[in-house]
Amino acid sequence: MRILEKISALPFSNLHKLVPEGINGSFGRPALKEAFKNDFYIGAALSLDQILGKEPKSLEVVEKHFNSITPENILKWEEVHPELDRYNFEPVDRFVALGEKNKMHIIGHTLVWHLQTPDWVFQDQAGNPLNREALLERMKDHIFTIVGRYKGRIHGWDVVNEAVSDDGQLRKSKWFEILGEDFIIKAFEFAHQADPDAELYYNEYDYEIQPKCEGVIRLIKTLKSKDVHLDGVGIQGHWFKDWPPIGDIENYILPLSKLNIDLMITELDVSALPFYAVDSQVVDISSFNAELQKKHNPYPDALPDSVQTELANRYAELFSMFLKHRDKISRVTFWAVHDKQSWRNYVPIRGRTDHPMLFDRNCKPKPALNAIIKAANAGK
Ligand code: XIL
Repeated sequence: MRILEKISALPFSNLHKLVPEGINGSFGRPALKEAFKNDFYIGAALSLDQILGKEPKSLEVVEKHFNSITPENILKWEEVHPELDRYNFEPVDRFVALGEKNKMHIIGHTLVWHLQTPDWVFQDQAGNPLNREALLERMKDHIFTIVGRYKGRIHGWDVVNEAVSDDGQLRKSKWFEILGEDFIIKAFEFAHQADPDAELYYNEYDYEIQPKCEGVIRLIKTLKSKDVHLDGVGIQGHWFKDWPPIGDIENYILPLSKLNIDLMITELDVSALPFYAVDSQVVDISSFNAELQKKHNPYPDALPDSVQTELANRYAELFSMFLKHRDKISRVTFWAVHDKQSWRNYVPIRGRTDHPMLFDRNCKPKPALNAIIKAANAGK
């Protein structure tokens, strides 16, 4: 305590000379959330281990740099509601308590999705497909139970995730097949009834695909024309160092913003590895020959400085563009705290070493962090 008082009495500019780098090397560095405090929330997706307090370094980073949190997996149906009569709320309770302790903007992800949802959800006890009425009842129960439990505490929900296909039509998921196209409206209605004050979002990826983007826009217009309570649309943002071009992203931010709802970048990560379509079947890197392994997993040990710089420049480019549209964007959430946590190490190719986040495998800030903070200052 006394040491802290002494330190805080010193001029800020001298801090770096006097204070050993903290365990995450971030003492004396400005916090990300401070750099963007007048612009948008800065969020991070938290893993189960982080939520359970098993990664103290990660938590230090989260508490310093982020003012919004999303659970990476624990609120997905298979995790929170693995069996018909069993909910697994303990990790979610811890997640919400962590957010409240730090006065964070707490996001729930996700209520209705075609993935990470057990088969039993769509079946009766004999294993036959449920009819519309029974599945609607099940969806309502799920949403009421979860949203109701965290009413007033989880501030925003990804109500429906990834419901539009590349061709702009609704994805032929089990939700769609059994309930028909109003499953989305129903999900939003249930969520709104369960917590009328919660913000409700539609979340999607690959807006670069023109017909898909148009499909999402059509869907949002339909929801609005039917007076569905919808506050925002999420752009996931699982991007690459050199794809998609910044202009392409800006080209869909603009029409989406005309829909009069908040825009959020909900799952940002920038892969440093070569492009491989995320919708492909997951394969193991060991199934490739040596040459292909080298091509698809070029940085198994560390990111070379030149690529580190490219990554930093890409992040700066993205944040400069987000800042330009800060009147439209309400939150930017990173889809992990550090490189080791990122799903891009294991989807769509398992066993690679990716470097997509702002903090490395030891939770040390990467040049991309400074690049973003610099972009924030330049944009003011
Ligand atoms: C990913 C998680 O990060 C992984 O841990 C999990 O194995 C698969 O799902 N779109 C979403 C997120 O909306 O929920 C996904 O998260 C990534 C793609």
